[in-house]
Amino acid sequence: MKAAISWRCCDATSCRAAGAAALRQRLVAQHGVERVKSVGCLRLCGQGPLAAADHEDGRVELFGGVAAERQLDPEHPFFTLQRSVVLERCGLVDPGCLDDALAQGAYTALAACRQLAPKAVVEELERSGLRGRGGAGYPTGRKWQLVAAQPGSSKVVVCNADEGDPGAFMDRAVLEGDPHRLLEGMAIAAHAVGASEGFIYVRAEYPLAIERLRRAIAAAETRGVLAGFAIQLRIGAGAYVCGEETALLHSIEGGRGTPRPRPPYPAVSGLWGLPTLINNVETFAAVPAILRQGGAWYGAMGTATSKGTKVFALSGAITHTGLIEVEMGTSLRTIVETMGGGVPANPNGSLGVVKAVQTGGPSGGCVPAALLDTPVDYESLQALGSIMGSGGMVVIDESLAMPELARYFMGFCAAESCGKCLPCRAGTVQLEQLLDRFVERRATGADLVQLEQLCGMVKATSLCGLGQSAPNPVLSTLRFFRAEYEAAIAGAAP
Ligand SMILES: Cc1cc2nc3c(=O)[nH]c(=O)nc-3n(C[C@H](O)[C@H](O)[C@H](O)COP(=O)(O)O)c2cc1C
Ligand code: SF4
Repeated sequence: MKAAISWRCCDATSCRAAGAAALRQRLVAQHGVERVKSVGCLRLCGQGPLAAADHEDGRVELFGGVAAERQLDPEHPFFTLQRSVVLERCGLVDPGCLDDALAQGAYTALAACRQLAPKAVVEELERSGLRGRGGAGYPTGRKWQLVAAQPGSSKVVVCNADEGDPGAFMDRAVLEGDPHRLLEGMAIAAHAVGASEGFIYVRAEYPLAIERLRRAIAAAETRGVLAGFAIQLRIGAGAYVCGEETALLHSIEGGRGTPRPRPPYPAVSGLWGLPTLINNVETFAAVPAILRQGGAWYGAMGTATSKGTKVFALSGAITHTGLIEVEMGTSLRTIVETMGGGVPANPNGSLGVVKAVQTGGPSGGCVPAALLDTPVDYESLQALGSIMGSGGMVVIDESLAMPELARYFMGFCAAESCGKCLPCRAGTVQLEQLLDRFVERRATGADLVQLEQLCGMVKATSLCGLGQSAPNPVLSTLRFFRAEYEAAIAGAAP
């Protein structure tokens, strides 16, 4: 076999934890430093540390392990069924090198869109059908239009990089793997809405992302590619609720990160009372490709109401753990079974069985195995009592009891509740205590009635999305796995 002309070595958090430094050292010793490039996520995180060998004839070989001892199959559906838009440069570009990003097309969409009237940029976004990837799925073009329409010359663009859902690492991959893409998306947004100042609010738990963003911002400013659009970083302090947009804005202002009622929405009155555009990392990262290839091109992918592609972090009881970007509308079965390889075999050799797929983290729900043919889009998941969420997708096998899963998420919400409103502050704690009784199989029939009533009350009366959606994992598991709750009522047969 002919030797590879160059190597790409993943230098993202997950591969670092698996020994990427040692793998890189080895490759450098064997092939020379000029032939080994550090890149972002190569997707199949569970097999890390990962390296790719690029051959003259275009062939790519993929290896896993500190000594690159495992050859992986780049023709596996895990890779071939992906559709890279947001992640098109992730794993190819050196995230620490602006020249490399420029050579691979970074900032060309920004340069082109500066020749367009801001209104034309917003129209292109509207044509694409892109919806916010932070969870709620609000149409991005409409949000941009709203901010653009506000009076006054001082407006702000904010990127939500708080990514707090357990099991979610999509945004981290963009930040660590292709930071210039985010900066370009934000600069395009600034041109479209008329802002000259931007903030990226990133969680403190992402030190590598912070380091790469700092470097990317400095390089972009020095080189003048952002043409006067100034971006600052703000680091979170570990509170999940600071991902909620109004809490996040309070936190940037230097106040306590607690949500406030909306309206007014940030588009009208956000940071320091200024009209503020706030979008998620993945939302901004989709923008350069949309401007480059056109809203119609993007809108042709996906389903009638969920356009384009979505990045998911695939984890849990699944053979191939990692990062995937697929067209909206791809079925859960394709993702879990074909791409993810299903549940690994048990140690006794018997086949592992998918019990459910959890999407949307603490605000989401569980789709049971019988409904795996569900297409992944906003409406289909919502119809099943789950949500698309930001992209965490956790596969659950038979070893996990559903009341236990519900208790885990409720405990998370109780711990992360900011305490501002009573239904969430007290309700999540009471719900967690009730769920304890089901997990410990000492619940009563009355507990089941109270569980459902309290879920309804907390959902209906909480101030922000955290409390409003905290009961979702309970309600969704009650809907599809009620028998497990009933069996946990004291006295029921085991
Ligand atoms: C408790 C809570 C946590 C949230 N965390 C995040 C987050 O980490 N990242 C994010 O982009 N959006 C998060 N959101 C959603 C944001 O409030 C907001 O809708 C989003 O940043 C808007 O961007 P988008 O339109 O691009 O999705 C959260 C919402 C709630 C209620
Ligand atoms: S719902 Fe919960 S997190 Fe949201 S404001 Fe009320 S107490 Fe705070």
